[in-house]
Amino acid sequence: MEKILEQISKEISKAFEEAGYDAGLGKVTWSNRPDLCELQCNGAMAGAKLYKKSPIMIANEVAAKLEGSKVVTGVEAVNPGFLNMNIANEFLTEYISGMSEADKFGLNMPENPLTIVVDYGGANVAKPLHVGHLRPAIIGESVKRICKYMGHNVIGDAHLGDWGLQMGEVIEETKCRMPELPYFDPDFTGEYPTEPPFTIADLEDIYPTASKKMKEDEAFDKLCHEATVKFQKGDRGYRALGRHIINVSKVDLERNYSKLNVHFDLWKGESDADPYIADMVQAMVDKGIAYESQGALVVDIALPEDKKEYPPCIVRKSDGAAIYQTTDLATLVQREQDFHPDKVVYVVDKRQDLHFIQVFRTARKAEIVRPETELVFLGFGTMNGKDGKPFKTRDGGILRLEQLVGNINEAVYNRIMENRDESEDKAKETSEIVGLAALKYGDLSNQASKDYVFDIDRFASFEGNTGPYILYTIVRIKSILSKYVQNGGSLENLSFNVPDTKQAKNLMMELTKFASMMESAYEELSPSKVCSYIYDLANSFNGFYHETKIMAEEDKAKQAGYIALLVLCRDVLEACIDVLGFSAPDRM
Ligand code: ARG
Repeated sequence: MEKILEQISKEISKAFEEAGYDAGLGKVTWSNRPDLCELQCNGAMAGAKLYKKSPIMIANEVAAKLEGSKVVTGVEAVNPGFLNMNIANEFLTEYISGMSEADKFGLNMPENPLTIVVDYGGANVAKPLHVGHLRPAIIGESVKRICKYMGHNVIGDAHLGDWGLQMGEVIEETKCRMPELPYFDPDFTGEYPTEPPFTIADLEDIYPTASKKMKEDEAFDKLCHEATVKFQKGDRGYRALGRHIINVSKVDLERNYSKLNVHFDLWKGESDADPYIADMVQAMVDKGIAYESQGALVVDIALPEDKKEYPPCIVRKSDGAAIYQTTDLATLVQREQDFHPDKVVYVVDKRQDLHFIQVFRTARKAEIVRPETELVFLGFGTMNGKDGKPFKTRDGGILRLEQLVGNINEAVYNRIMENRDESEDKAKETSEIVGLAALKYGDLSNQASKDYVFDIDRFASFEGNTGPYILYTIVRIKSILSKYVQNGGSLENLSFNVPDTKQAKNLMMELTKFASMMESAYEELSPSKVCSYIYDLANSFNGFYHETKIMAEEDKAKQAGYIALLVLCRDVLEACIDVLGFSAPDRM
């Protein structure tokens, strides 16, 4: 569907042309002075320079041509040469009607859908999820959903950290505890056990113990590093044990992510890139872009236009270990082979920007990706506590994600119990749905790149720019609709009313902004755009709701028209919260 501002701009362009001016001057925007008018066009100002004429004269001529327009009304030329106008009510009603019938409210689907890989989550196996994993999960999930909603082929990949030092740490500590296991016997040639030697609870003890020991004991530290290299180089027993670490962790991670309504299409890890490393590194040497420096193999990435100095990208360390850059590069080799992506988006802490500059530049130099492949680093800021420092537990420790989710659910639960007499079970169930919205909206309503303050009381509030406020609005609409149905009304084949109040018109105008909002959320990979839109939409709805007697309306046709508007509003709000990665309860 053609967007509403495009349709209106066409009408104004026609008037410019009829008055003898360039049609390109007729671009219309929403007014930034809604108290004066709904739409504005500044084309006469630009035209003045082109035609050496006063802008107000041009504006007056164009306004005259728009008399009797079916698209805009009340067109007014105001000094020094602006065109102010309103949308014709019938035109708006027709547009809304079309929107409600169209697939995805008239959003245009791409002729050639892109293949987009979204790399997000980035949890590390053997370590529990902590608050640091919240943002990549929440933002990445929403970015993935926005891209999908826009009609692209999207693959969300968890890209687990399963290749680093923590693998050597867990292997070494397991060896201390159970030296008799076959994984540690170099002469063992049989099949390794299919059952893991530890549970997730064991792992949660093994890893921190190893980390602590490493700090205190130099010899142990050395052993962990050696075990990591041995694992990476492909020692049979260490690889088999490594698989167990990955599998046991993955089950736990899947459970935790799905509680956040975060679902990956792919659960690849850094270790999956290993088979591609040797050939990739060899190709870099053959191309003459990788060279030896202090025993390591490096690629220069500096460009003449750089304003600061970028250190070379290390692709192999002197002890032969592959590092973080190497696995990310080899993962690109794999992605190119498996998916041929047009775009790869990395949702990762913004403090890793140098890493991604190194990876992207090396990937281009080594021609791992095609020149037209877009590599995007979506770096997010830190979630801070009220003291402005990175969020910590009360005693200064790192808060586990499960704990954090529990805290917010509890805050919401208390609020629900304050307000009404709900059964405890029902309130608990609802508080999980609302808590997730509070958490996600609290995060996503900020620009991803900015740091933000995690404020449980504000996020969980039912008023203001919060997730619960949005859900409350949806629940309110749903409850009116179900009352309407209970009273014998039907939600099918409703036709819209021509708006009879300012509030009804505002709500309709807000609804028409959906498509352009979603397009720009996609262009900028910005869930915060969706948040600010639904906040405005919810406010417009509530303005309409307070002004309008819906259930008491005696004119049934008119009432049905209100209901049509409510249905559309509910559907748009629900589509939006779905791309944000949360949902609304039926009651709250
Ligand atoms: N596991 C990494 C970390 O904890 C994040 C991974 C981000 N994704 C990537 N492709 N490097 O820092």
